Amino acid sequence: MIYSKITGTGSYLPEKILSNLDLEKMFETTDEWITTRTGIKERHIVSAHQYTSDLAVEASKQAIEASGIDSNKIDLIIVATTTPDKIFPSTACIVQTKLGLSLCPAFDIQAVCSGFVYALSVADKFIKTGSAKCVLVIGADTMSRITDYSDRSNAILWGDGGGAVILEASDQPGILSTHIHADGSYEKLLHVPSGVSHQKGKSTIEMQGNQVFKIAVNTLDSIVDETLEMNQLDKSDIDWLVPHQANIRILEATAKKLNMSMDRVIVTIDRHGNTSAASIPLALDTAIREHKIKRGETLLMEAFGGGFTWGSALIKY
Ligand code: COA
Repeated sequence: MIYSKITGTGSYLPEKILSNLDLEKMFETTDEWITTRTGIKERHIVSAHQYTSDLAVEASKQAIEASGIDSNKIDLIIVATTTPDKIFPSTACIVQTKLGLSLCPAFDIQAVCSGFVYALSVADKFIKTGSAKCVLVIGADTMSRITDYSDRSNAILWGDGGGAVILEASDQPGILSTHIHADGSYEKLLHVPSGVSHQKGKSTIEMQGNQVFKIAVNTLDSIVDETLEMNQLDKSDIDWLVPHQANIRILEATAKKLNMSMDRVIVTIDRHGNTSAASIPLALDTAIREHKIKRGETLLMEAFGGGFTWGSALIKY
């Protein structure tokens, strides 16, 4: 049996911090309102000349170093992002060149906040079929570039960042299962109306926050059941929940579903905000570097995002 094993993680946050107190100066809101409704205290924002690929590259350097691999071993690069540097080439191709990696397939995946779980799922299948042995999987987003800072219920949520993992083929258990889903009929509840081919409407995020909230909680409930059932595991078998960081109240609802105390949930939303595809690898790397998550522990990652898309990954770390 071939498994995909996470052998190194890395993350990167831009220097500039946008705190709730900064937002109080931009529109009518309060630190108290934002903290109570979302759990967010601050988020990092890119500078004018910083791009998604820059965040991805810094996170990847750390992941490569942590894994101890020769970077020439990387035989596939996948970047999950909704905010690519350019329409084309893909951010993955730009990252390949910036890191000076050897020629290998490189492509982007777009599943918004579920992007990292989607990318992990695809990378796992490349490894399980023997098509790749060492994959650089990145989640990176510059959500500030598509945020309307005059829409206060929306602008408070988003942050920028990048996270990366090195996945290597192993005979030791690693990724145990991945589960990905989508339902495009919810497009209008969370979207950027204008794009490349469709050039009508705003080019910033529009969201029906309270509706998204309710559907997210119910959907994450069902993905947790699906993951546990497929692996014939009990809730108590999960050591850590590593969730997409969308809203502390969504995280608390999933923890409750798992009968898990919040100290077994990796929470970075207070410091990072919602960094979309970057949020899970950022949370994972932060928890590993803070010596919370240890080798041999069982991790459940889950995410929900625009599309709607959703998914999970069960991992023996
Ligand atoms: N500061 C102060 N008041 C605000 C505010 C802000 N930043 N944003 C909205 N409000 C006000 C609204 O104007 C409204 O006032 P009213 O009752 O006088 O009309 C009130 O707060 C409630 O607004 P509502 O939009 O219903 O707030 P909410 O409780 O749903 O919270 C979100 C808004 C966005 C925090 C919440 O819906 C949410 O987190 N949803 C999930 C979104 C998400 O995670 N999306 C990404 C998925 S990957």
